[in-house]
Amino acid sequence: MKVLEVEGNVPLLGSVEISGAKNSAVALIPASILCDEEVNLNNVPNISDVDALESILIHLNAEVRRTGESISVNCKNVINNKITEDMSVKLRASYYFMGALLSKFKKVDMYFPGGCSIGSRPINLHLDGFKLMGANIMEDGNHFIMEAPILHGANIDLNFPSVGATINLMLAASKADGETIINNAAKEPEIVNVATFLNNMGAKIRGAGTSTIKIDGVSYLHKCFHEVIPDRIEAGTYAIIGALTGKKLKICGIIEEHLEALLSKLKEMGVKLKVEDNNIIISKSRSYKPINVKTLVFPGFVTDLGQPMSVLLTQANGMSIFEETIYENRMGHVKYLQKLGADIKVSDRTAIITGPTPFIGTEVVATDLRAGAAMVIAGLIAKGTTTIESAEHILRGYENIVEKLTAVGADIKIEEVE
Ligand code: EPZ
Repeated sequence: MKVLEVEGNVPLLGSVEISGAKNSAVALIPASILCDEEVNLNNVPNISDVDALESILIHLNAEVRRTGESISVNCKNVINNKITEDMSVKLRASYYFMGALLSKFKKVDMYFPGGCSIGSRPINLHLDGFKLMGANIMEDGNHFIMEAPILHGANIDLNFPSVGATINLMLAASKADGETIINNAAKEPEIVNVATFLNNMGAKIRGAGTSTIKIDGVSYLHKCFHEVIPDRIEAGTYAIIGALTGKKLKICGIIEEHLEALLSKLKEMGVKLKVEDNNIIISKSRSYKPINVKTLVFPGFVTDLGQPMSVLLTQANGMSIFEETIYENRMGHVKYLQKLGADIKVSDRTAIITGPTPFIGTEVVATDLRAGAAMVIAGLIAKGTTTIESAEHILRGYENIVEKLTAVGADIKIEEVE
């Protein structure tokens, strides 16, 4: 198990470079299977989720070359092997192999995906869409085989704008016969990044970024080069760190439009921040106003920044209300914030947070990826040392977090313990 050790109360100054978006990269890599030639992806973050997907591609006999933050994938000799259970459960994004393999081979044999324990995380919206496109699904426990003798276009109404289902159905529709329309589609920036990638290969996708996406299936997808967008969740996490510890902390390489909801909430609290070109400069202020935060689908306040944001709310002058509306169980970080000294009362998906409360370093656990990020933020403001167990959760989604924080003055190190 990996453990992070953080010394608190150190002002952070300098620049943090934002990496490519995990939630885009983990879709683009499986989507490469659809290409009949080589694809080259740049700005791919070096995180363990990408490692896991690379190993699945290799298991499928794809040629993969990864140098730094570029990855090239050639799937001309890909074999539709069964994706084993231990591969499928390593991450939530393994579900993208469903849409990709169904589109390419009209068959996929794999297991239900893994992912953070933040709720039940069903994939019914994905499977219902595939069925409408002609897929037959045989389920046996968490193993399933999907086959579509004819994969054809369909008119699909999502009863929730699911990010994963929207992207997965786009992948399946890219090489299906005829037109697919996805209604109530998710509008997150990662959807647009994946649609642009597919169109760069010759797919015919219109409307990505809106609630209605139309895809005309094509038979051949040619080589392309593509860039992963900056990670808005990583950028938002560092912005919150800057609001709590920064002395003109510069967060570089962001897309402001992707962070509007967070930035407006930070300003509402009284955080002094400036956006210059594609950088944010942010410093800790003496005091912050309490606010209410409710997570929503894009362009609302993104659920993945709810846990990091709740740490900032513990330092506001008064009572804030934080409501998580996307997942039913995304409060795993609360008990450890309380252990550090936070005053938080939770009922169902709502947390009443009263501050400011001083934090004293102690042992805590990263219960999931963004809860882990919240522990790092809390450790950076706590008096003394905070030890974060199960830190491997954090490394799934934050490239070089120890190096990036050390470079701006943080006293943080990672150890492997038995
Ligand atoms: C993606 O998960 C992200 N993961 C999540 O990021 C992110 O929180 C989420 O989108 C929302 O933005 C990846 O991209 C790998 P959803 P996904 O389908 O696709 C329910 C992180 O921290 N639902 O939009 O699973 C579901 O249970 C991770 O980086 C169904 O009911 O999100 C949830 O309550 C965490 N049936 C809600 O919809 C389905 O078939 C949102 O899920 C699918 C989803």
